[in-house]
Amino acid sequence: MTINKQQRYEEMLPQLASLIAGETEEMSVLANVAAVIHETFGFWWTGFYLVRGGELRLGPFQGPVACMHIQRGRGVCGTSWERSETIVVPDVELFPGHIACSSASRSEIVVPLYNINKVVVGVLDIDSRELSTFDETDKNYLEQVSQLITRTLYAH
Ligand code: SME
Repeated sequence: MTINKQQRYEEMLPQLASLIAGETEEMSVLANVAAVIHETFGFWWTGFYLVRGGELRLGPFQGPVACMHIQRGRGVCGTSWERSETIVVPDVELFPGHIACSSASRSEIVVPLYNINKVVVGVLDIDSRELSTFDETDKNYLEQVSQLITRTLYAH
């Protein structure tokens, strides 16, 4: 029996919750969240950009070297930040202004991280080497991961 994507997320979420429960060190938590997602699904690149000094700066990630600065409204990450919403990109070549950190990346999802006041404090960015990897299932569960991060790190 093959495990589908939804089942994988259903198993991963409680594991993530218990892994980071009670932890307050932002870099440690985000590093382990990136590692769990990356290992569970075998994505090409999984990581975080954090709002610092009026721009997005590279945070903990798994995968190849990536751009270190992204301006608000630029690329998928900067657009997700500006719009304060999740963006699913089935084909990065069709997204105007997409920032190609790696030419191998073909599809992408970016999910905002919020503080308790609903202000965007960063984004979770995941890249795939295949087209159309991400859909409503990924959006739904990765937004739950984002909510878990808010409750763990940004609610105090
Ligand atoms: N493609 C992203 C840039 C970050 S990398 O994918 C790691 C973007 O367009 O914002």
